[in-house]
Amino acid sequence: MEIKPEIAERIFALEEKFKNSGQDLASYLDGLLYDRYLTYWDYLSIDTLLSLQKTLTHFPDEKIFISYHQISELYFKLIIHEQQQIIDAKNPDVDFLIEKYNRLNRYFRILTDSFDVMIKGMDKEQFLKFRMSLLPASGFQSAQFRMIEMYATPLENLVSFEIRDQFSERNNLEDLYENIYWKKGGIDLKTGEKTLTLKQFEKRYTARFLRIATTYKGETLFHKYRDLPDSIKNNKLLKEALRNFDVNVNINWPLMHMGAAYRYLNKDDKSIAATGGTNWKEFLPPGFQRNSFFPYLWKKEELDNWGKEWVNHMFNTEKKNY
Ligand code: HEM
Repeated sequence: MEIKPEIAERIFALEEKFKNSGQDLASYLDGLLYDRYLTYWDYLSIDTLLSLQKTLTHFPDEKIFISYHQISELYFKLIIHEQQQIIDAKNPDVDFLIEKYNRLNRYFRILTDSFDVMIKGMDKEQFLKFRMSLLPASGFQSAQFRMIEMYATPLENLVSFEIRDQFSERNNLEDLYENIYWKKGGIDLKTGEKTLTLKQFEKRYTARFLRIATTYKGETLFHKYRDLPDSIKNNKLLKEALRNFDVNVNINWPLMHMGAAYRYLNKDDKSIAATGGTNWKEFLPPGFQRNSFFPYLWKKEELDNWGKEWVNHMFNTEKKNY
């Protein structure tokens, strides 16, 4: 049997490759011979993926609730993947950075724009029932959401707004972490105790969060941009992309998410208790949290009015829309 020159050429190349790493080409060719052909469903682990939407109740719309949360977590994973590439890049050029921030912004835009799967896509009566089987679990316990924040900016920028000016990079990480904004959200206002939702979250993730804070101290997106040479840092498109990222994560998504809370948890102007037990009307509005990943990119009055325009809009249109 004649071997075609283009096949022979590849066999020589393969022989070279395996010889260089002390491997035997013939054994690998056997492997190829016995291998099954790849299928779509195996490559994507479709059976596993589609087995993960395990509802706890018989209400059909709980499937939507689980699936959309999982979709969001997958996007969070892609977002972290992009953040890590920015952090790891040595001497990145401006095109690389713009491309990465554009990807981040696209992911957040998709998440924000698709939130009406939650806001309009579930029956309220069903939601108010099946949620009782989910206590005390809450999106508050999304570790990836917290990681996105921690990769983006140092802990001192995430300290609860009312006391943020008392903290700086000179504080130790444990102190900063203890005063992070979401911990305050997880305090039961009546008893002053941490909610079970917060306690469980801390037990599961504190060590990991502190490890991330330690590993990425001085290396977050905030630092990576701040330490760029002026020629790159002053690029208008890059600056705009970072500002958009700040607004997407800290205003647009939270506001859309708050729309869901209003739609499902606001009744006759009274709040229904959320599964995570926060005083959510005070905890969720971006204008109250005032988180910004890149405060140096905003004027003082922009920071003073952080998310306010949108929040006012929200409160005024609340009755009409949600
Ligand atoms: C009907 C849909 C939803 C409602 C009613 C809702 C409601 C709430 C409420 C009330 C909180 C405050 C914590 C608490 O007391 O439980 C919260 C926090 C949170 N939820 Fe949701 N949520 C919904 C969908 C989602 C989805 C799809 C995600 C995506 C993963 C998500 C992620 C989060 C995150 C990350 C927080 C913490 C926010 C922060 O710390 O600023 N939520 N949610």
